[in-house]
Amino acid sequence: MIGPANSLLSSEAFYSPVLGKRENQVTDQQVNEGFRQAMRRLATTVALVTSGQGDSWAGMAATAVVSVCADPPTLLVAVNRTASLHPTLHAEKRFCVNLLSERHRDLVGIFSGQVRGRERFKRGNWVSGADGLPVLADALASLNCRTETTLDVGTHTLFIGRVEGVLNHDDIDPLVWVDGGFATAAR
Ligand SMILES: Cc1cc2nc3c(=O)[nH]c(=O)nc-3n(C[C@H](O)[C@H](O)[C@H](O)COP(=O)(O)O)c2cc1C
Repeated sequence: MIGPANSLLSSEAFYSPVLGKRENQVTDQQVNEGFRQAMRRLATTVALVTSGQGDSWAGMAATAVVSVCADPPTLLVAVNRTASLHPTLHAEKRFCVNLLSERHRDLVGIFSGQVRGRERFKRGNWVSGADGLPVLADALASLNCRTETTLDVGTHTLFIGRVEGVLNHDDIDPLVWVDGGFATAAR
């Protein structure tokens, strides 16, 4: 049920009303849970964010990838500081965002914990791109970025990168992540 407009200020009233509480009195826990549930409704193309050179190649599956602006072309990725990719990203100051197509489903598990370290790159058509960055040759798009700014927010670091090279493929059949699972973009 959607309440009156001002109840949007209260995640409790909007999402999960608790009887007997004043309208705007919500606990952090309720907001956190409301946020998690809201984010299940945010559909995003899955990406593999990669960094490093040669033996130090590192990568992870990510959906927290945002187009910041087109002039200059700028991307933002949010990476948990506990992720194995984090130290490499920080040290290299370069990263590649590889947007996945439906045919890359199998890579997502591999790049989110099933396989560790450099072994992740044994599956998939990986080639060495600018400055030795790992590039998925048949990705929907691969964007080479140079990190310009970082910002720590809670558990994550935001890496904001200037896009210096782009490889686009003709097909646009993104692998979409929504409601905790895969979906396709029907048009
Ligand atoms: C679909 C999907 C999207 C993800 N998006 C992000 C993300 O944007 N940022 C992040 O830090 N972790 C994200 N993760 C989690 C990381 O992929 C995963 O925790 C990480 O690769 C595992 O850490 P490890 O490399 O240390 O094993 C996502 C996982 C999945 C399956």
